[in-house]
Amino acid sequence: MSDRSMILRGGRVVDPSQGLEALRDVLILGGRIARIAEQITDADAKGAQELDLRGAIVTPGLIDPHVHLREPGQTHKETVATGTAAAVAGGFTAVAAMPNTEPALDAPERIRDVLERARAAGLARVYPIAAITAGRLGKELAPYSLLVRAGAVAFSDDGATVDDARVLRRAALYARDLEAPFISHCEEATLRAGGLMNEGEVSARLGIDSSPRLAEEIIIARDLLIAGDTRKRWHIAHLSTGRGLELVKWARAQGISASCEVTPHHLVFSDRVFAGFTARGRVCPPLRGDEEIAALRAGVREGVVDVLATDHAPHAAGDKSGPLSETVVGFSGLEVAVGAYAYALPDLPLARMVALLSTNVARLLNVPGGTLTIGSPADVSVLRDESWVVDPTAFRSKGRSTPFEGMTLPRRAVATIVGGNLVYDARGRVPRITSAAIHDGLTTAGTR
Ligand code: DOR
Repeated sequence: MSDRSMILRGGRVVDPSQGLEALRDVLILGGRIARIAEQITDADAKGAQELDLRGAIVTPGLIDPHVHLREPGQTHKETVATGTAAAVAGGFTAVAAMPNTEPALDAPERIRDVLERARAAGLARVYPIAAITAGRLGKELAPYSLLVRAGAVAFSDDGATVDDARVLRRAALYARDLEAPFISHCEEATLRAGGLMNEGEVSARLGIDSSPRLAEEIIIARDLLIAGDTRKRWHIAHLSTGRGLELVKWARAQGISASCEVTPHHLVFSDRVFAGFTARGRVCPPLRGDEEIAALRAGVREGVVDVLATDHAPHAAGDKSGPLSETVVGFSGLEVAVGAYAYALPDLPLARMVALLSTNVARLLNVPGGTLTIGSPADVSVLRDESWVVDPTAFRSKGRSTPFEGMTLPRRAVATIVGGNLVYDARGRVPRITSAAIHDGLTTAGTR
């Protein structure tokens, strides 16, 4: 049995929650952060396992606010176990799981079931997001208080927009007194119609049915107005247009409690990938044009974007092939994210990046973490700035489809610690100074 104790030696510790960025040792005792100092001596922690992290970046555990774990119902695409294995291999100590499972996470026992599966997997922490409407059908309201009591941290019908504004407004009024925010998937049905990609010069050239930016922006505007009207805390998922960001800014200026996220794929790829990627480039909202990519990057740099989110949407291999109109949407994101963000935002100060991936996410979802302050649970991500080539066959996720396939990215996760347990270790990359059994019932995710 381990006592979940460890010394992390000599990494660059970046913790925006306490304004810390310096070379430090970190002492973990009993699964909690015990000390951070220039040098921690062995006497402080006899027998604790030591990791040599010179040259590495040590951060509060990264939290992904938007993943799809597909369980229950679509375990051929992903399970809580494989999704959390992918999470820790990507450097995430926690993920928030969307409710578009089959059946949807719209009842307390389903929330408890996901939490139980996450505990059994023993890898990343999982924070379930419950549905806004029963079955995500956009008609009947879900039982919000019971869902929060069962462990839900937010509400969303993600994958679908709540089309009926009256239903959504009523939902927000019912849930108003709960901390848990509403998270909007923004695509207006009549404008989107059967659109398979972004409307623009590329869709016109290829003759592919398309969906305009307006389809997204009109719902962002509507939902932020409903947020203001009901005084509900509101978050916009996978925002993909510059005007969408302007709407979030406008809402904040009115005193509306509004936040938003952007994804790695919307920060990097434009609709031009459709020329070569066809079905493999399909995602909702669709990949946009170059001006939108520039606007999103500026939005991150200028602080309009609150958090970064992968929208990890794993699918089985067969689901992503075939005709464009029949293919499923979404990419596997957890195992490329830290590299993709560094690639998209090379000049973003590290402390800002860590805030967007950890501290701000903990605040958004009102969950523990996002800090390495003394006494907090030892959820720690260890990253390294080094080039690597994305090889989806090495993913722990069952979903292997990513537009980043074959690309060289400049940063990667090398070790992930959850509650003082080393749950991921890119073997051979993190030299052990002493060895001790530290897994405490958890299994290492293996090599990559
Ligand atoms: O591309 C997407 N895929 N966007 C979503 O909002 C849902 C997701 C999925 O569940 O596959």
